[in-house]
Amino acid sequence: MRAGALVVDYDEWHRSWSRDPDGFWDAAARELTWFEPWSRVSEVGGPEQGGAHRWFAGGKINLSYNCLERNIERGFGERVALHFELERGEARSFTYAEVLSEVSRIANCLKSFGIAKGDRVIVYMPLTPQGIFTMQACARIGAIHSVVYAGMGPDALRHRIEDAGARMVVCADATYRRGKVVDLLAIVDRAIDGLSVVENVLVHRREAAAPLGTRHRDFENCVRPQSPVCPAEHTDAEDPAFILYTSGTSGKPKGVVHVHGGYGVGVHLLMRHYYDTRENDVWWSTSDIGWIVGHSYICYGPMLAGCTQVVREGAPDWPDAGVVWSLIGKYRVTTMFTAPTAVRMFMRSGPGPIETHDISSLRVLYCAGEPFNPEAQEWAVRHLGKHGAAVVDNYWQTEIASPMIGTFAAMTVRPGFAGKAIPGVELAIVTPDGREVPDGHGGLLIMKRPVPYMMRTIWGDPARYQSYWSKTLGGYVTGDIAVRDAEGYIAVLGRSDDVLNVAGHRIGTAEVESALLTHPAVVESAVVGLPDPLRGECIMAFVVAKGPEPAGDAAAGLEAALIAHVRDTLGPIAQPSKVAFVASLPKTRSGKIVRRLLKARELGQDAGDISTLED
Ligand code: PRX
Repeated sequence: MRAGALVVDYDEWHRSWSRDPDGFWDAAARELTWFEPWSRVSEVGGPEQGGAHRWFAGGKINLSYNCLERNIERGFGERVALHFELERGEARSFTYAEVLSEVSRIANCLKSFGIAKGDRVIVYMPLTPQGIFTMQACARIGAIHSVVYAGMGPDALRHRIEDAGARMVVCADATYRRGKVVDLLAIVDRAIDGLSVVENVLVHRREAAAPLGTRHRDFENCVRPQSPVCPAEHTDAEDPAFILYTSGTSGKPKGVVHVHGGYGVGVHLLMRHYYDTRENDVWWSTSDIGWIVGHSYICYGPMLAGCTQVVREGAPDWPDAGVVWSLIGKYRVTTMFTAPTAVRMFMRSGPGPIETHDISSLRVLYCAGEPFNPEAQEWAVRHLGKHGAAVVDNYWQTEIASPMIGTFAAMTVRPGFAGKAIPGVELAIVTPDGREVPDGHGGLLIMKRPVPYMMRTIWGDPARYQSYWSKTLGGYVTGDIAVRDAEGYIAVLGRSDDVLNVAGHRIGTAEVESALLTHPAVVESAVVGLPDPLRGECIMAFVVAKGPEPAGDAAAGLEAALIAHVRDTLGPIAQPSKVAFVASLPKTRSGKIVRRLLKARELGQDAGDISTLED
C-alpha cells in the first residue's frame, strides 16, 4: 500500500534532527510566539538522573496566546476555528476572533473567583464549546486544568479533585449518551460531598431545570457579563499547563503534568510535519477532551496550526451509521483522527453508509490508541481511501502527549506496524536485563532520552515519575512490548504490565479490583483483559465472594450487581463484561495474584511456568 503525495520526507527530516538535535528543537520553537526568548534549548538527564529534563529554560510563552492571538496577528481572525456539532443536533461555528473573546470572558470569570496562576481547576465537561474554551481560559491565566472525562464516575472524579487539590470545578449539568441524558451534576455532588477544598462549582446548564446548591454558580450568568479582553499570562516555558490523570499498574491513577513550552512546541511541530496540516485543512479528531488526544489534537494542536476543525459530540454510529460520512461531506474534512475501535465499528456497518456520502475531500485518516489490526486497516484503505486517502497508524501515550512512532502519509504502509520513530524520539527494544533484541524479536519498548513534549513529573509524586526511568533497561519504560523490522518499522503489540486497553482507553486492573472490593459481597478479586473483536480487549473479573460460592440465579444476580457497582463508581468504560466466581485466586508464594494464569485458563491456553505458585 502506498498513498498520499510526498510532503514531509522522513529521512530528510530525521537527518535534520540527528545532525543537530538542539538546533532542530530551537527551530521548532521559533515557529511559535514567545514573550521572552529562552537561554538554553535543553537540559536533559537520562535514567541516571531520574529522567529530569527542562526545555527552553528562561523562555516565556503561553499556549492559549499561541492558539489565538498568534493566528489573529497572522490575519486568520475571521477564519473558522471550530465547527461544533452538538448531540442535540445544534451546530455552531466560531472564528478565531470569536474564540478569543469567549475564552477571555471565561478567563476573567475564573479570575473573579480568585483563580490565579498555578491554581488547579477540574474540568468535568463533555465535548462542547464551553469545555474547550474553559481549558483554553485556564491556560490563558496560567491556571492548571485537569479535565476528567465526563463518563467517569464519582469515585474516579473525587480522587482527581483531591489529588490535584482543585479549588474549583467547572462542569456541565448533563451529557448525552446516544440520546439519553446523563446527570453529571449528581455525579459532581457525590464527588465533592464533604470535600472542603472545592470552593466553587461553575455549572454549564444544558438542562434548564437543573437546580443549584450553595457552592454552585451558573456558568452563563457568571461568564456573559465579563470583559472579552484578557491578556495572556506570561507563563514560564516550564510552568505546568495541565494535569491529566491516567491509569497505571498501582490502584491510583497518576496525574501526568505537561508544560506550556515544550508541549506547545512539540504539538505544533507534529501537527504541521507529522499530521501534515496545511492552512486550509479541515481537521476532525473523534476523541474527547477527557483524553490526551483531545488535549493535543482537539483543544491545542489544530488551533496552534491555525486550521479549521470539526468537533462533534456523540458516538460515531449515533443516530445512524452514516453520520460521520455526512459530516465529512458537509465540512469537506481533509484530515481525520480516530481509533481502531471506531474503524472496526464502521466495518460492522459495512460500506453502505459510506457510499451515499461524498468523502472525496479526505486526504489522510490517522489512527492511534491501540494496536491497529491489519484487517481493519485494509478495510479502511479500501472503503475510506477509495479517493486516494492514506490510512496510517501512530503510537503514543498520555505521558508523551504526541506521537513517538508513526507512519507518515507519504510512507509505504506496513499493516500491523505503527510506523517509524518520530525524529527526535530515540527508541530501543530490550530484554528484561536491558540488552537490545535483534530485529524481528519482541522486547520491552523504551525511550532512551526525554523529548520536549513529554511529561515533566507526576503531580505530587516525583518519585513515581522517576520510576518510569530504568537504569537497567536504559531509558523511559513505555510499558509496551514491540518488535522492529530491518527497515525500522515498529509494531507495538500490547502492554507488558497490568494495564488494559478497552476501545483505546487505558484502564488499570488494580483500579477495577479496588472498585470491586468496595462492594460488601466481595472478599478478593482479580481482573484480566480478554480479546474482544470490536474493542480490542474487554474486562473480565474473577471474584471470591463472601460466604459460599454463588451459583445459578444467585451468581447471575451478583454478577449484574457487581458490574453495576463498578459502572456506578468508576464509570461505564471500566465496567467488566463478565464476572466469574471462584473459591480462591491463584497466587505466588509471596502472595501476588497471577492474573496471567486466570487469563490463560479462560482462553484455554498454556499458562507457562507455574513453579512459583503457592497452590
Ligand atoms: O499500549 C499503548 C496503546 O495505548 C497506550 C497509551 O494510551 P493513552 O495513554 O490513552 O494514550 C493514547 C494516545 C494515542 C500505549 O501505551 N497504544 C497507543 N497507540 C497505539 C497503542 N498500541 C498499539 N498501537 C498504537 N498505535
